Amino acid sequence: MAEPLGDTYRTHTCGELRPEHAGRDVILLGWAHRVRDLGSLVFIDVRDRYGVTQVVARNAIAEVAKRVRGEFVIAVTGTVEQRAAEAVNPKVATGEIEVAAREIRILSEARSPVIPIADESATINEDVRLRYRYLDLRRPRMQHNLELRHRVLLAVRNYFDAQGFLEIETPILTKSTPEGARDYLVPSRIHPGEFFALPQSPQILKQILMISGMDRYFQIVKCFRDEDLRADRQPEFTQVDVEMSFATRELVFGVIEPLIVAMFRLIGQEPVTPFRRMSYAEAIARYGSDKPDLRVEMPIEDLSTLFSASPFPPFRDALAAKGAVRAIAVPGAARFSRRETDELTEQAKQLGASGLIWARAAEGTVQSSALKALGEDALRAALQQAKAQPGDLLLMAAGEPEATSKLLGQLRLLLAKKLDLLKPADFRFLWVVDFPLLEWSEEDGRYFAMHHPFTSPLDEDLARMESEPGAVRAKAYDLVLNGTEIGGGSIRIHDQQLQSRMFRLLGIAEEEAKARFGFFLEALQYGTPPHGGIALGVDRLVMLLAGEQSIRDVMAFPKTAQAVDLMAGAPSPVDQRQLRELHLQIRKGT
Ligand code: AMO
Repeated sequence: MAEPLGDTYRTHTCGELRPEHAGRDVILLGWAHRVRDLGSLVFIDVRDRYGVTQVVARNAIAEVAKRVRGEFVIAVTGTVEQRAAEAVNPKVATGEIEVAAREIRILSEARSPVIPIADESATINEDVRLRYRYLDLRRPRMQHNLELRHRVLLAVRNYFDAQGFLEIETPILTKSTPEGARDYLVPSRIHPGEFFALPQSPQILKQILMISGMDRYFQIVKCFRDEDLRADRQPEFTQVDVEMSFATRELVFGVIEPLIVAMFRLIGQEPVTPFRRMSYAEAIARYGSDKPDLRVEMPIEDLSTLFSASPFPPFRDALAAKGAVRAIAVPGAARFSRRETDELTEQAKQLGASGLIWARAAEGTVQSSALKALGEDALRAALQQAKAQPGDLLLMAAGEPEATSKLLGQLRLLLAKKLDLLKPADFRFLWVVDFPLLEWSEEDGRYFAMHHPFTSPLDEDLARMESEPGAVRAKAYDLVLNGTEIGGGSIRIHDQQLQSRMFRLLGIAEEEAKARFGFFLEALQYGTPPHGGIALGVDRLVMLLAGEQSIRDVMAFPKTAQAVDLMAGAPSPVDQRQLRELHLQIRKGT
């Protein structure tokens, strides 16, 4: 039977009591974390968000304590006692004391929990964790993660306030902004057949705030994107969204780097600024990715010149077709067994390679999967050019240059993981700059904006916009941390004519541009300061700060990889009356 709380409130939290409190009368409120029944003596660990305190129930109180089960909510009144030296638990902050109970009240009983809260090491199916999220969030790990998230967001607000930024809210019911994903739509009851879109980001509105003279804007904002989900993608996620008038790239970097430092100080890290920078072209060629993980160097070397006269058919054919021969030296992988090198070749083929050649220096000679075909001298030169050290394994592939780099980039990551070279607490920041403005889609037969259509081309590439659109670079930048894109932004187009030119390049007809962005094109004509900004992915940043593998572990109520809320059971059908009011009809069988 549950008993009332009455006017009781705790005197201390479950993480607070120390030897200096010995002799004090206290009241603790919390969950029974563990109950140990020793007959005339019962120990209950009482838990709340702040910690765990051991309560000891002796004699008559032991009888009451015996009714307490795991996860019951209880009120304990008692006296703090210092533990004998041999009973001290150094692993717990309150481990030097215990509370001798005078009264234990059961405030709330609990069903036997489906998630073992006291067992930190238990592996629990993620669907169960999401279905019973309230139990999952009781676990210390999740409580720590959500507290860290709170501290990060607090640091963001304090930082931007000190830098003269205003936090301005923008609407959730709005018009579609193109960030490359599908929109979540909300039907209007009042306007039949018309829809709001949930914002993929507040991009256009923050630019309009610059036109409004707000000068420095930030917002901690929910964004919504209907796209394929992964460990670092959710349909609903949070950005730290930033925009500045009269911004140059240097101004944006100069504001964001100290913010990142402030965040990492929360976990005792002191990142070194300025962060490293790399052009998109270099990132792709040297690391096979636009978000290279630089915890390990392992750069991709181009060996095309070295093999330009090679008769080896895979290399000769690739080079004849304007392709490249590229390689990575994998540290410490020379010891790989035959089975392991065979597996690697198989993996490379699955990733789309036509083949993979390995080579290593061994006791003065060279060993290779293509020793005869390539010859010892060429292989020795290849090892040297790729700066392979003794003990390294050289992996070579040939083909279309970008595809070859991307393949080797994937192998680079697979191997770095296999060889345990990626340490979670080693933080390597990188600005990737000078992205291409446009990206060609084979499927649609047209260009798409690589970032979004409001990104400015580089001044020196403006003249090539129509003649060589694929070669135009943008004033766009991404912030990358350990292979994860944690932010992206750009200097914007602030000239209406250039903006219209950009829409034409994207194959957006004037009429369509007017219908979708007319309000913005009009606003641009009323005195627009040059401006630029960035958005940081809060969930990804907190994931990395917390040392987690998935952003779901740093969000209170995330959705599954199928975009479902398992706890509330959303999305769900709605009743006919609601559909009628919204002027909607569900088509069967589609
Ligand atoms: P972008 O689309 O690059 O830029 O988004 C900015 C950052 O938001 C995070 N992010 C996500 N996090 C979780 N789940 C998702 N589905 C998801 N999508 C993006 C990433 C990313 O770097 N309006 C521009 C910003 C600007 O130009 O100022 C924008 O939204 O960490």
